[in-house]
Amino acid sequence: MSLLVGLFDSGLGGLTVLRQVQTLYPQVDCLYLGDTARVPYGQRSREEIRSIAAEVVHWLRGQGVGVLLMACNTSNALALDVAQAAAGVPVLGLIDSVAADISSDRVGILATPATASSGAYRRAIQACRPAAQVLEVGCPAFVPLIEAGKLEAPELRQAAQGYLAPLIAAGVDTIVLGCTHYPLLVPLLTSLLPATVRLVDPAVATVLRLGPLLAEHGGAAGLAAAAPPLPPSGDRTRYCVTGSAQAFALAATPWLGGTPAVQSVCLQSQARIP
Ligand code: DGL
Repeated sequence: MSLLVGLFDSGLGGLTVLRQVQTLYPQVDCLYLGDTARVPYGQRSREEIRSIAAEVVHWLRGQGVGVLLMACNTSNALALDVAQAAAGVPVLGLIDSVAADISSDRVGILATPATASSGAYRRAIQACRPAAQVLEVGCPAFVPLIEAGKLEAPELRQAAQGYLAPLIAAGVDTIVLGCTHYPLLVPLLTSLLPATVRLVDPAVATVLRLGPLLAEHGGAAGLAAAAPPLPPSGDRTRYCVTGSAQAFALAATPWLGGTPAVQSVCLQSQARIP
């Protein structure tokens, strides 16, 4: 039996991770949960983020996911242990996955305020590269503007300039997109950065780690080479949100290349932090 891959995020951001899964493993069934009723996560307290993670993961487990991909850095930074305890299945996180791939000692992290102040990226990268200098910058303006579809807004550009300034001044040569919404900003960020700076999307390293797990359950890992990526009409993902299904379908359309069928769900969980 093939493995159902569960992914969750506060909103649209996790779609950047889902797209990688769909491209590499087009025959795999996914369940995507966007917790849009509670977006953004990144300005919430540690306790809130942990309690939300327990509830979301409990719900995903009830839907029969066989592997959980945390498509949200904020939950990953503050609640990986909560997700691992609640999932009952393997949990893949973005932060550890990408840390091992970093090949620079001058690294910048753009992330939500909660992720940046947790120090999770610095710890994970320095565990692999003790000499690495890791500068973490919280970017509170990004997620609300991205969720509102304001990718061309002057205030987005202005905010990006402000967040990048300390990283450019520190001379970083690698910047990790430490929030899954941020790959949607790559054109903007690239236009503001020296050409020598490399942007790293943690989803790439994370999604590769799915391969062996999928192979254990029906050999789906090699399918990307054998089958072309599915068109949107052949999307094997079930999309669920805690807020408006219609609003999410509309907002997700440009990122998925088609309008997904989205279901509004109530998590109704009694889950508690273990
Ligand atoms: N996309 C999520 C992350 O990677 C959450 C952003 C938010 O809701 O603030 O952190």
